[in-house]
Amino acid sequence: MRVPDTIPQAPGGVPLLGHTLPVLRDPFAFLTSLPAGADLVRVRIGPVQAILVCDPELTWQVLHDDRTFDKGGPIADRAREVLGNGVATCPHSEHRRQRRLIQPAFGQARLPGYARIMAEQINAMTGSWHDGRVLDVMAEMSALTARTVTAALLSSALPPQVIRDSADDVGTLFQGIYHRMLAPALLNRLPTRGNRRYMRASDRLRATFGAVIADRRGDSADRGDLLSALLIASREEDSARGRGLSDTELVDQALTFLLAGVESTAALLSWTLHVLALHPDVEAGLHSEVDAVLDGAPAEFEHLPRLALTHRVIRETLRLYPPGWLLTRKATADVRLGGHLVRAGTNVFYSPFLVQRSGGLYPDPERFDPGRWDDTQRDPPPRNAFIAFSGGARQCIGDRFSGVEAALALATVTARWRLEHLPGQRVTLAKTTTLRPHGLFMRTTARTP
Ligand code: HEM
Repeated sequence: MRVPDTIPQAPGGVPLLGHTLPVLRDPFAFLTSLPAGADLVRVRIGPVQAILVCDPELTWQVLHDDRTFDKGGPIADRAREVLGNGVATCPHSEHRRQRRLIQPAFGQARLPGYARIMAEQINAMTGSWHDGRVLDVMAEMSALTARTVTAALLSSALPPQVIRDSADDVGTLFQGIYHRMLAPALLNRLPTRGNRRYMRASDRLRATFGAVIADRRGDSADRGDLLSALLIASREEDSARGRGLSDTELVDQALTFLLAGVESTAALLSWTLHVLALHPDVEAGLHSEVDAVLDGAPAEFEHLPRLALTHRVIRETLRLYPPGWLLTRKATADVRLGGHLVRAGTNVFYSPFLVQRSGGLYPDPERFDPGRWDDTQRDPPPRNAFIAFSGGARQCIGDRFSGVEAALALATVTARWRLEHLPGQRVTLAKTTTLRPHGLFMRTTARTP
């Protein structure tokens, strides 16, 4: 679908290749190079033509009109190949039903139970470190969040090797989705090593979760895990309307939680540890907070309301490093957006990275300043300024889940350990579907508060 010519082209495009090279080279520099004040720009990346929404209020409009701007576009399409028709990838026509069935699994009442599972995993991780150990931070945090989501999903422990394999498979899929978005469809079907690895990862995850779900279908006990909540809601829906979740839909949901919940929270935690080490003043404030609140104990759900700075540090890190940095929609009808006519079928991209670094919304936007979120000190940023969890009907269902996990992990880690960069280290932004740090290795030192 051609995108409207009335919308200016993003700078740096060349005939035939469009913006593919600058985006491949450094997508984040490309985003920050877009003209200040542009509302929409046309981009062409690989085979894909799209409009990129730059203006925060127009982004808000896109997110809150989920019928017109439906799930679709290259990222959602590639994700659908793996996740099937789960809540994150299904079309608008299916979404209300799925979301209603899944919402109870993420309700407030279930959080303390998930927090106990998280605290156990966080304790095991920080307890396994020793003084002077060098951590591959993203790998360590991914192992933590994979164990946490799997345990919260299934409660009954999967063998450690299966969990490790699942975390690896999630990483392979994330890397693959981004590259497959940039490649022509034909290349994605060739039996290359990368494509075979991608398909193997997808098949293995489906087989693992398919077996567990088949096993649990007849189990009516509430084990307090995500799967119990899904099975209970599904049975209730079945008796009310005969439209509960099928086995395939349950596997789609389980894979969705895994893909949506593992890399994102791991990236957030990794960036948080990185920025803390760069800001000793904030780190010192956090040490005072966790020492006073935890008094040497590991963080638990009950501590969360008193960890104000911990929450602010996490939010500010999410502002600067939103794991979902580029997301896609497809227009399902002709629609006016910012004075332009956008035709049905047009790919529409939005970017939390772009919005959340906007100088119009945040003074000195590149500066890490957790104080921005202290609403007792100043006015909080406007409603459209923070979209790390998206917005509207498709807003992240795991936002509170990941908020609890990130706060417990950050508090327990900083109470017990200082993490420092290795000398001469260069940390960059990795080019994958998730905005994650590349080359982040840190050395542990035990704290004695
Ligand atoms: C820091 C952590 C996280 C971030 C930044 C994040 C971000 C997002 C974003 C931006 C979306 C919308 C995607 C789009 O617009 O296309 C989303 C959707 C979703 N997320 Fe998260 N997420 C996080 C953690 C989690 C966790 C832990 C889970 C589950 C265990 C989860 C489950 C989901 C699901 C199921 C959706 C689809 C919701 C729907 O379409 O109704 N997320 N997330």
